[in-house]
Amino acid sequence: MSVLEQIFDILSDGYFHSGQKISNQLAISRSSVWNAIERLKSMGLEIYAVKGQGYRLAHAIEPLNKEKILKAVDSRQLFRIPHLDLHWSIASTNQYLLDLAKYGAKSGHACVAEYQTAGRGRRGKTWISPFGGNIFLSQLWRFSTGPAALGGLSLAVAVALGNALERFGIREFSLKWPNDIVVQEKKLAGILVEISGEAAGPTAVIVGIGLNVKLNSNDAKQIDQPWTDINTLHPGEISRNQMVGTLLSELMKMFTKFESGGLSPFLEKWRQWDTCLGKKVILHFHDRQIEGTARGIDDRGALQLEVNGTVHTYHAGEVSLRSIRS
Ligand code: BTN
Repeated sequence: MSVLEQIFDILSDGYFHSGQKISNQLAISRSSVWNAIERLKSMGLEIYAVKGQGYRLAHAIEPLNKEKILKAVDSRQLFRIPHLDLHWSIASTNQYLLDLAKYGAKSGHACVAEYQTAGRGRRGKTWISPFGGNIFLSQLWRFSTGPAALGGLSLAVAVALGNALERFGIREFSLKWPNDIVVQEKKLAGILVEISGEAAGPTAVIVGIGLNVKLNSNDAKQIDQPWTDINTLHPGEISRNQMVGTLLSELMKMFTKFESGGLSPFLEKWRQWDTCLGKKVILHFHDRQIEGTARGIDDRGALQLEVNGTVHTYHAGEVSLRSIRS
């Protein structure tokens, strides 16, 4: 463990720890402790320093832990994870698995990180990924089919994520096409599905999930859209390790179901959670936008948009959708 990781571990209980004690415990100088604290702050960790008392986190954080995550994976799904890599800091968990996939990483390989320096969002956006407190998770899945058969996969991932949230009693969310998880139009989680493979198959898919568990207002300033986090909905109740284990379980159940049945088994739930159905919406393209009324999704997961009395079909990945407040 690096010095930074060790100091995070010590502070994670949320109590005060004196600089002197930390320096003795880790056998490093007081100024090295101070430097490490400054570095942790720059990564997004909220740390208070009080003269005479030392340092403490704004709130306790359960560090991510591989054993705890694997313990939380459903026993019937566990064998599908050949590796789980836990990174303290990484550019992007999706990029990491895309690289590994090129060198033959096995289906089910998963990666979770406390911090991403270059987290990726959909449509070339950045996913703000501050340290400690959120979930940045990716999993590689290999399908024997070509990419064409995987059209609706990102909607099925949203359903898997919704199922995981429900297992924690979180029911306030809905889905915004194609796969945003929102609570009253504020984003709770994002999904990035990246695919590599030949037209005839096989296909390697990397599914990335960014779930806001506890964002601090400072980090949130960088986010360019309305957001919320689990802590706002259910203060202090959720264990990240258990959530990651549950997310992986639901993802793997979904992957196996999707392999045999495609999007069909997920349509009912997706439609039940559709936040835009019947609402006036704007559909944004990179160079233009269209206004219409959302009429749900077709059986392939494409958006149905009514414009001047005619329903048009739009496919996932090409557009984004924003509700208009009336
Ligand atoms: C979106 O824009 O809504 C998708 C966001 C996806 C973010 C996650 S965080 C884990 C994984 N690694 C990344 O770089 N991106 C995804």
